Amino acid sequence: MINNQEQVLSLNQVNKNYDKLQVLNQVSFYVNEGEFVTLLGPSGSGKSTIFRIITGLTGIDSGNLEINTPLHSSGKNKIAYMPQKDTLLPWKKLKDNIALPLILKGVKKEDAWEKVKELIPVFGLEGFEEYYPNQLSGGMKQRASLMRTFLAESNLMLLDEPFASLDAITRTNLQEWLLEVWQKFNRSVLFVTHSIEEAIYLSDRIYVLSKQPGEIILELEINLPRPRKSDIMTSAEFNNYREILYKSLRGN
Ligand SMILES: Nc1ncnc2c1ncn2[C@@H]1O[C@H](COP(=O)(O)OP(=O)(O)OP(=O)(O)O)[C@@H](O)[C@H]1O
Ligand SMILES: [Mg+2]
Repeated sequence: MINNQEQVLSLNQVNKNYDKLQVLNQVSFYVNEGEFVTLLGPSGSGKSTIFRIITGLTGIDSGNLEINTPLHSSGKNKIAYMPQKDTLLPWKKLKDNIALPLILKGVKKEDAWEKVKELIPVFGLEGFEEYYPNQLSGGMKQRASLMRTFLAESNLMLLDEPFASLDAITRTNLQEWLLEVWQKFNRSVLFVTHSIEEAIYLSDRIYVLSKQPGEIILELEINLPRPRKSDIMTSAEFNNYREILYKSLRGN
């Protein structure tokens, strides 16, 4: 299945330094159309840097990058990026922050708000529509950012630890939700996490990065049946993947 599909993204032998600091070493990976791919790696291994490279926020020293997504009218690639740090606009209410990508696309404010209203309960944000970001918890801001990224409707979503500061139940709910929408809307996802379990549960394939400078040390295909529910985490196959990834991260 993987070989015949079209790639929406590929990095080939990418090297990246920040001055004297080598951050990425010969990094190569790809994401197929409709695929859910995760980068798993220790802090400082260059995961967020990879996202900044893909979105053009920073350059590379050598290697190359191919992006094959539809273009915006501006000529830029249509990629939705949820950075690790939330980027909600402090002067806009929650609902207006979330509706922003729709409004930027030219959707009328009332129509945008209708769409936002439907999804607000899914993200557990009902009752907070009129709040400003500084009145929200860290997890709420994260969910609002995720919702906004989702509403941008690009076919490649880059999600940088979107569930990092959530409680266990909300996290599991949002993971299940993400799998549902991913399957329904057939988007390609490149996901970053520190969590081995989250990576296995969500992904078609996982790339493990070494500690700095980040190198791809393992590519693992996850052949668990879909649709997946969180109870799959107790299965023997799941445990087997967990062990492989754990060993790889520990450098065995
Ligand atoms: N703008 C920058 N200038 C200089 N160094 C940078 C810059 N951005 C990132 N770095 C360095 O690059 C390295 C990789 O950072 P990056 O944010 O990509 O790591 P990460 O894998 O996302 O880590 P984490 O899991 O903690 O989010 C770090 O050592 C960091 O200090
Ligand atoms: Mg990061």
